[in-house]
Amino acid sequence: MVDATDLRDEGERLGLDELRALQGERLRASLRHAYAHVPFYRTAFDKAGVHPDDCRDLADLARFPFTTKADLRENYPYGMFAVPRERVRRIHASSGTTGRPTVVGYTENDLSLWADMVARSIRAAGGRPGDTVHVAYGYGLFTGGLGAHYGAERLGCTVVPASGGMTSRQVQLIQDLKPGIIMVTPSYMLTLLDEFERQGVDPRGTSLRVGIFGAEPWTEAMRREIEERFAIDAVDIYGLSEVIGPGVAQECVETKDGLHIWEDHFYPEIVDPLTGEVLPEGEEGELVFTSLTKEAMPVIRYRTRDLTRLLPGTARVFRRMRKVTGRSDDMVILRGVNLFPTQIEEIVLRTPGVAPHFQLRLTREGRLDALTVRAEARPDATPRDRDTAARAIAAAVKDGVGVSVAVEVVDPESLERSVGKIRRIVDLRPRG
Ligand code: DLL
Repeated sequence: MVDATDLRDEGERLGLDELRALQGERLRASLRHAYAHVPFYRTAFDKAGVHPDDCRDLADLARFPFTTKADLRENYPYGMFAVPRERVRRIHASSGTTGRPTVVGYTENDLSLWADMVARSIRAAGGRPGDTVHVAYGYGLFTGGLGAHYGAERLGCTVVPASGGMTSRQVQLIQDLKPGIIMVTPSYMLTLLDEFERQGVDPRGTSLRVGIFGAEPWTEAMRREIEERFAIDAVDIYGLSEVIGPGVAQECVETKDGLHIWEDHFYPEIVDPLTGEVLPEGEEGELVFTSLTKEAMPVIRYRTRDLTRLLPGTARVFRRMRKVTGRSDDMVILRGVNLFPTQIEEIVLRTPGVAPHFQLRLTREGRLDALTVRAEARPDATPRDRDTAARAIAAAVKDGVGVSVAVEVVDPESLERSVGKIRRIVDLRPRG
């Protein structure tokens, strides 16, 4: 039914050789731009003994130094900008739970590129000019709301800028304005689901046909849950403020097989998170991005800390990234075993008797860390169902992840609901 072929933009129509040639050209230009205009990059390249002219083909990028979030923090607020502040049209910032936030900037051209990339993403998700798009990503310094907004406008859609929060009103707006598309974090979509049910409105009966979910990791189990409960197609959108915001990579609705990276503008590498060595295609590691066309804040080999793998393109010429397993920062090391919240999500979502809401509590018992999975009972679950569910979750974690955890099945509606990005881990370990 979905025929995206005719609607593809120029970049999406490139052949593989043309794409690689274009990337090579753009990469050299981006390295030169960073070197010439950002003292941080000049110093870093000089120190590593490399010059933009040394980049003769794409593989030469591996000789250039990485950029980290700490580098961005140290150059707060405007030190990473490659253009005079007067040419910067917009600022966004990441929340930064501790210390300084990270500030990013966009020129007029950058904003236009961003809108193009989000428009391309919405189209790949099945959106078309004339669709109504309900944007429930937060508006403000976070890139989600405004990024989705201008992309949807660029595609020729009608935008409902709902932002996050005021959940009962969101349900009302969806019923009245009849959007075909919703853009929201998957965790907030679950909050909306509860609200639909609370208001006695059938979530499968809405006008929505596609949900474009991102800003946090989510699993295939969550896709099934959301698709089933809302009767929609659920696809993944990825991005980060340092690279541009949402619209760095997007899953195509016709294949739902991982996210095509818009690599005519954002060049991906996968590296070993410990050694920094570039890994061959298909291996799991840390995703690293180099911007190819950004003006205000070019990023060279930016370490995302997101773990995934690169795969060849299917619905598009561009390479795909697998759904992100998690951030290296969110990895819990429990008695030597690495554990990601997404692994627990898979288990909780397939366990009868519990709702798709859970939280991970990290505590310290003596010298050992301990993890408690708190999952919410479904309203109709009996005490016995709860007990069975708790034992099933503990056994599945032991089997699948290889570590023992405690499980508490708590009352319906007792865990905090997400209004944006959800925080799965509550770290109650003593500091220091
Ligand atoms: O979250 C941009 C965004 C907004 C993406 C809306 C998609 C939709 P930041 O606040 O800078 O930007 O956070 C970026 O969020 O490094 C990942 O760890 C995580 N993330 C974003 N999208 C996904 C996704 C926005 N689809 C950080 N799957 C990234 C998993 C994601 N994690």
